[in-house]
Parts: sequence; structure tokens; C-alpha cells
Amino acid sequence: MELAVVGAGYVGLVTSVCLSEIGHHVTCIELDKSKVDKLKKGISPIYEPGLTELMMKNVNLGRLSFTTNYLEGFKNKDVIYIAVGTPENEDGSANLSYVDDVAKIIAKNVKRDAIVVTKSTVPVGTNNRIQTIINNHKPSYISIEVVSNPEFLREGSAIYDSFHGDRIVIGANSEKAAKLIEEINKPFNIPIYITGIRSAEMIKYASNAFLATKISFINEIANICERVDADVEQVAYGMGLDHRIGSHFLNAGIGYGGSCFPKDTKALIQIAGNVAYDFELLQGVVNVNKKQQRILLDKLYDRFGNLKGKKIALLGLAFKPNTDDMREAPSISISSELVKAGAIVYAYDPIAIDNAKQILDSSIHFVYNIEQAIGGADAALILTEWDEIKNMDFNLINTMKYPLLIDGRNCIKLKDIKPYQIEYHSIGRSSVK
Ligand code: UGA
Repeated sequence: MELAVVGAGYVGLVTSVCLSEIGHHVTCIELDKSKVDKLKKGISPIYEPGLTELMMKNVNLGRLSFTTNYLEGFKNKDVIYIAVGTPENEDGSANLSYVDDVAKIIAKNVKRDAIVVTKSTVPVGTNNRIQTIINNHKPSYISIEVVSNPEFLREGSAIYDSFHGDRIVIGANSEKAAKLIEEINKPFNIPIYITGIRSAEMIKYASNAFLATKISFINEIANICERVDADVEQVAYGMGLDHRIGSHFLNAGIGYGGSCFPKDTKALIQIAGNVAYDFELLQGVVNVNKKQQRILLDKLYDRFGNLKGKKIALLGLAFKPNTDDMREAPSISISSELVKAGAIVYAYDPIAIDNAKQILDSSIHFVYNIEQAIGGADAALILTEWDEIKNMDFNLINTMKYPLLIDGRNCIKLKDIKPYQIEYHSIGRSSVK
């Protein structure tokens, strides 16, 4: 089928590449010319395992192309995906100005009947709003129907998830539109669930909010485990054996970050607030996450009292491994607090260093390997569980001023660290001294 995708950000690019991989002809429209120039040369603006290879393969097969021109992008297309950003407004609500603009542009430029599919995460009711904007701006002889098709991809494994996801949700007002989008997605071989538009919009927010809730829940359990001498890993495993609970998203740590959970939880609280409903549980999840991002600092203060002049190494800066995404990464608040406290901060990340430099305090020493980060340090904090950091040579810890390792991701096994002369603390597990 002939498809257009508006937006070459994370969602738009992955959507374009994967839809072309299953055989569709996709034109990805992006206004940022420098981005399009790079994409045409096979350079991806984001780090996502497997993306560049799949992108180049489909460009070479003639199934995927990029343009800055809407008219060229919409030409002969049956379906247009909206995959532009919905950043957070100051009050936590989603900013829909990009989505609204694209809706107008589609209405004014499309020359034939089309389906518009919303991939962007948008508050309940937004697809109706898009439909209204389109109806108000399109010529009367053209019919355009809006369908909701939220994405459930994780950064760092988005390509894998595209082909191995648990479900594809399609929210539509008409059976005809739903069937067309179902047909497009069939080659993914993933169960398809067709719903009403508002339910599809809600499924996206409710899913992210529920996963965030699991994380905040296990983080609180971890904090209690530390105080009652239990081990959160054993607790999470034991809980997860119950299928009603499930074992996923029960890894305790320094809280969730990224472009989705922090934004979507706050947006859902807003959505509820707009209909005079106080989503108390989710507000608790957000509060707990904020508190949890501080947990390593509390451990450092407990240990040192004062951080002035202490050299602290940060290992991993991205909000999770296998991505260069720094958005809402716990490293942002942790490093800023350390700098404020007068600590000398050395920071290392295998991939996100360039992005980190643009966001984090300029007094931070950005280094290019673990050795440089921890040499002479008073303490090292693991903030992201990159393989390279999990599997680091513990003998390197001897180069520290004091061998203190605080693992914010519980990514090191206690039995592996025990043979070394290292003081090791983690989240909700016993310490090694
Ligand atoms: C999340 C969802 O998992 C995707 O299903 C969804 O499509 C995506 O948001 C989105 O809305 O676009 P993502 O933010 O890429 O994906 O990453 P996750 O793997 O979900 O991790 C989010 C955060 O939670 C990370 O900071 C991670 O470190 C943290 N986390 C995750 C934990 O602290 N503990 C866990 O057990 C799992």
C-alpha cells in the first residue's frame, strides 16, 4: 500500500522503516531539511539498534524515501500517519500544536480520499479534534477518516518490538477504516485489537501509567526491604511467579525516565483532572518516582555527610541502556544536585555522551571510558545498566580513592562483587562491605 508518515522523530522513523520492511511504499515527511539530508545519506538522527540497517535496506529497495515537501509526500497516498511530537506543557498536559498543524496541512494538501492514522500519543478526544480540524479545512469532495493506532515500542528495542509486540490496537469509527489499517498491519503477525477511538487513546495512556505504577510500587517495596533486611530481587521474583502479577517491570532502581512515562503519567493526571477526577494513585506514582531519583544522593549523604570536593563518577547517563536518549534521565537531577553540593563530577556513557553534554552542567567532566571516570574517585554511581558497565572489570575499582560502588540499577550480582574488596550498595538489597 502507498503510505506517508509525517515526522521523522523516534516514532515516525521507526514506523516508516518497519512499514516499508513489511512491503509497503512509505514516504516519510520531515520539515527539518538537515535531518532529511542525513536520512537520505543513511544517517539516522537517533541511536536505535538495527534501525540504520533496515532503513538502508528499504531505501535501496525503493520502498522508503524521505522528503521535506508535503505535496510530494502525500502524492498518491492512501493512508497518512501522524507521528509528530506532543511535548509536555508547563502544567503537564500534552502540547497538541504540532498535531493540529499537521491536521490542517493534510486537509489542505491531500488530493484524494485518505485515512489519517494518529501514531503520536494524544489525550483522549484528540482524534475527534483532528477529525474536526480536517473536516473544517478539507475540500468537500474529499473524504478523510481519522484512526487511532498507538505505538507500544520501547526505545532501544523498537525494531524488535515492532515485529514481536503483544498487540496492535486500532481505534476507528468505521469498520471500513479499521479493516484497511488491519490489512496494512497483518504482515507484522501480531494480534490486532480493534476498538473505539477513545478507548484506543486511553489504552496507550493506561498501559504506560500501569507500567510506571509497577515501577514505583517495586521501588517503594525496595526501600522497605532495605529497612527490614529483605531482598527486593527475591521479593520481585516471588511476586512475578503469580501470573496475575507478572514478572516484568518489577526491577527496582532509581526510577523511570525517558520521553514517555514521565510525560504520559502527568498527561493522564491532567486528562482525569479535566473531567473533575482526581487520579490520586497515579499522582502517588509520580511523586514516588521523583523521590526515587534522589535515592543515590541520600545514600551518598548518609555515607559522607558532605559532598563538597568529593570526586563522584557517574557510570551511564542515558535514561536506559541501548539508547542515546537523555530525556528525563535520572542522571539529570542526580548530576545537578551533585554539582550544587560541590562534588567534582566525572561522567561516562557509552553512547549518550554527546547528548548529555548539551543538557548536563558544563562543570561536569565528560570522559570516554570507565577507567577515566572512576580513577581517583571517592564513589562511583551506576545510573544506567549498559552491558559494558554491568560487566566492568571490578579490579578497576582499585584505582578509586575509596572503593565505593553504588548501583542504582541492581545490575551487578551480589555474588560477583563479594570476592572483591569493594563497598557495594544497591537498591533494596543487602550491602557488601
Ligand atoms: C515505554 C513503554 O515500555 C513502551 O511500551 C511505550 O511504547 C513507550 O514507553 C512509549 O510510550 O513510547 P520506553 O520509555 O522506551 O518505553 O522504555 P522502558 O523500557 O519502558 O523504560 C522506561 C523507564 O523505566 C526506564 O527509565 C527504565 O530504566 C525504567 N524501568 C523499566 C525500571 O526502572 N524498572 C523496570 O522494571 C522497567
